[in-house]
This record gives sequence, C-alpha cells and structure tokens, in this order.
Amino acid sequence: MKCNDTVDPLTIVGFINSHQINVIEVISSTLVELGRPLNFLELGPGVGRSTTAWINHLPKVVDMHVLDSWMLTSENFSILESLLQSKNYFLNFNENDFNKTIKFLKKHGQFKLWQKNIQDNPNKHKIKKIYTIDFMDFLKSNKEHYDCVYIDMLDSEEEIINCFNYFGDSVLICGDDYMSERHPYVTRAVHRFIEQSLVNKNQKHLYVFPEANFYAITSIELSVHIRERLTGK
Ligand SMILES: C[S@@+](CC[C@H](N)C(=O)[O-])C[C@H]1O[C@@H](n2cnc3c(N)ncnc32)[C@H](O)[C@@H]1O
Repeated sequence: MKCNDTVDPLTIVGFINSHQINVIEVISSTLVELGRPLNFLELGPGVGRSTTAWINHLPKVVDMHVLDSWMLTSENFSILESLLQSKNYFLNFNENDFNKTIKFLKKHGQFKLWQKNIQDNPNKHKIKKIYTIDFMDFLKSNKEHYDCVYIDMLDSEEEIINCFNYFGDSVLICGDDYMSERHPYVTRAVHRFIEQSLVNKNQKHLYVFPEANFYAITSIELSVHIRERLTGK
C-alpha cells in the first residue's frame, strides 16, 4: 500500500509499465471535466495490474466494468510463465513474490488471482460489473452503452478495427502497444480508424503518448480537456 492507501499497480504481475500507468492517471483526471456519469469498460484486465491503475485514478462519476475470459488456468499457465520470465513483466517483483503468484495461479486460476489482487483495494467499489466471457460472446449479447473503453487484448488488426467500430461513438477508446514493434497491427488499426472517421465526418482526435506507446482516440468534447491537461492551457 502507498501512503494514500491506494495499491501500487506495479506490485501486481502484469503487462503495463509505469509510463502507461502515468497516462492512465492523466486520462482519468480529464473524465471528470465532462460533468456527467460515465460507463467505462476495461477489456483484458489480466490479473489486475491495469484494473488497479484505473480504479486508483478514475473519478467517482465513472462506473467501471471489466471483461476477460480469464482462461489462464493450471493447464495453460505456462504461456504466462514463459512471458513472465522476461524481466520487463515483473518490475518490482522479487523471486519469492513471483513464485507465490505462480503457485496461486496454478492452484486457483486467473480469475481468482485477479479477484485476490483487487480485494484489498479501497477503490474496488468503482467496479460495478464483471464479465467472465469471451469478447465475441459479449458483442453478441451486450446492451450497455460505454462512454470509455480501454483495450488490452485482441490480436489482429481486424479484431481491433471491429472493436473500434463497435464502440465508435464512445468519448474515449484507448490502449497501449501503439508504435510497438511487437504489435504493429495496433498502430495500423488506429490509423485506419482515424482515416475512416475523417471520411465519415465522425470527427475523432488521436492523442499519442510516445513514451508509453499509448493511444487515446477521443471525441472532440474530451479532446479539449486532454489538451488543456497536457498543455496547461
Ligand atoms: C495482455 S493481457 C492483459 C494484461 C493486463 N491488462 C495487465 O495490466 O497486465 C490480455 C488479457 O486479455 C484476455 N483476452 C484475450 N482475448 C480475449 C477475448 N477474446 N475475450 C476475453 N478476454 C480475452 C486474456 O485472458 C488476458 O487476461
């Protein structure tokens, strides 16, 4: 715990880094300027690092929903384990913590680990809905409107474009892996969507946070507040 009693996301196994966490803080601080209640959907919370970053910073007017298939179980956890062997992914993690996490994951599965990592967070009440389904099934049955969407899943340009189109009238669609060599399809999808929105006169703004490989596609309404926050004007 930090002194202000929020949980430090970097103490949870995960895939986002401190630059991305800073961007999450900046974007969150602008949402309150819209002056109305907002629905926020996190796609791909994993085991809770990004969820923690968002709930630490989202203003009270925002209701957060999270969606993950949470398929990582003892049978297939070796995929995660091999990723986690790469040092990037466990900043702040000592071997003891890491081994404990893997043991828990093997025994209880990914969803229980996400729950465990969120349960002591004083901001967990911001999470109003938890979907434990595949995103494709969600698309078939969803009736909610989302003002804001954070994407940390989906593995192809087409999947991402479809997702952008589905949430096309949101005030914010954001995510990482922008301009990253490992995930070039994210950048391609972002550019395609922005070009498409120009053609359709459904104007969107693109904010890029290069150090964090983070993109934010915003409505004009939100973009004013992001610009003010970033430039101080
Ligand atoms: C890169 S990880 C998320 C990392 C996390 N945001 C963090 O902060 O560490 C991607 C997550 O997306 C989920 N996922 C991938 N494809 C999915 C799909 N089609 N439907 C639901 N969840 C999916 C995986 O289960 C995994 O937990």
